[in-house]
Amino acid sequence: MGESKVLRVQPTGESLQGRATVPGDKSLSHRAVLLGMLAEGQTKIRGWLAAGDTEATLSACRALGVSIERDRDRDEIRLQGGALREPTESLDLRNAGTGFRLLAGILAGQDFASTLDGSAQLRRRPMARIIQPLHTMGANIHALGDVAPLKIRPARLHGIFYHLPVASAQVKSAVLLAGLFAYGATAVEEPQATRDHTERMLASMGADLVRGQGIVVLQSGQELRPLDLRVPGDFSSAAFPLVAATLLTGSDITLTGVNLNPTRTGLLDALGEMGADLQVSITGEEAGEPVGELRVRSATLQGAELGGALIPRMIDEIPLLMVAATQAVGETRLREAAELRVKESDRLAVMAAALQQMGAVLEEREDGFVMSGPQGLRGAQLNCHDDHRIAMSLAIAGMLAEGDTTLLGAECTNDSFPGFASLMSGLGAGMQEATGPESEAT
Ligand code: S3P
Repeated sequence: MGESKVLRVQPTGESLQGRATVPGDKSLSHRAVLLGMLAEGQTKIRGWLAAGDTEATLSACRALGVSIERDRDRDEIRLQGGALREPTESLDLRNAGTGFRLLAGILAGQDFASTLDGSAQLRRRPMARIIQPLHTMGANIHALGDVAPLKIRPARLHGIFYHLPVASAQVKSAVLLAGLFAYGATAVEEPQATRDHTERMLASMGADLVRGQGIVVLQSGQELRPLDLRVPGDFSSAAFPLVAATLLTGSDITLTGVNLNPTRTGLLDALGEMGADLQVSITGEEAGEPVGELRVRSATLQGAELGGALIPRMIDEIPLLMVAATQAVGETRLREAAELRVKESDRLAVMAAALQQMGAVLEEREDGFVMSGPQGLRGAQLNCHDDHRIAMSLAIAGMLAEGDTTLLGAECTNDSFPGFASLMSGLGAGMQEATGPESEAT
């Protein structure tokens, strides 16, 4: 457990300017160590995201007998993949839902027992969505009330054809990773396209994987080649300065080295439709992922109707979109996003309540929200609910408000974006982190 922090945000009244590179992609950082440990030989990862969630996954890999070397000078992690061994203790994934669910898929197919656990926050998140398909594959998993901890015993798995009831990349990945250890092929069909990092990374490691018409088919008994990659910047982190620069008049910033995988960049489409001034240029590729630059200049946004296939492509950016919607001219309506209620917090409820505390008027719906703008916000003292994306979205709201905003429990920003406040300050935002008695009020 790290120290409790408060984040103070002052509206500078000024625009954002400059260039910045956000830390490595969280989804790719989890996958690089989890898949790397399954490949015989040495995997090399540069630019790995050293954050709360990913460190939890890395510790779990170490507890499974993987030897890991960290070369801080070269910003490189080297891990020796191959055979895993039975962990001596329960694996604590803390707040890392991705690490937890992907590892469950891997562990279901091992010939040793293991227990997967996490923080109080992770223990509230639904796990039936992975337990059920893994059971169908023959896994032996016990979980009281279908939540963590999960007790996994050795089992012989067989491939299945699985139609995902919810559009979830974590569930798709858990089933595919279990499929690596199953007899026969495993196929997953998704109702809508979700982030496809697992598929791209497996393909870059030489796996026999066929994709088409919303279906992925993976053959079993694959020999994976070790990885050698540089993790590009996380689009979900880039989204915070991107939205702030859009909303603060006169801003002009460039974010470099960002992962621009189209299954992640739905926010660009949503903001583009709302009138944002965004220039996207692809500059290269890393482990099958397009990487590029984003230039963002301020613009007046118009309200929009958002839903459907766009939602999974911007699922983590919706709290931030709610902030943008307060400043858009006219009505913004978002639907089909009930999944937000089972993230690190109930993100629809928490964002609606926090924005209301800042003076916004909006209607929270079961699967989204409706709001009309532009609306003035006022600074407030707000709780981050141990949810990194809530904390950072509210920090952006604080930049637009009249008066100062204090975010309690802001240490959770470290789960995905260490250095958030200093990166934002470097672009011109007024943000300071502090530890103090106030921070205990969470
Ligand atoms: C992730 C998938 C998404 C996303 C999460 C990361 C991943 O979750 O919200 O932050 O890396 O696979 P779901 O699969 O539950 O939608």
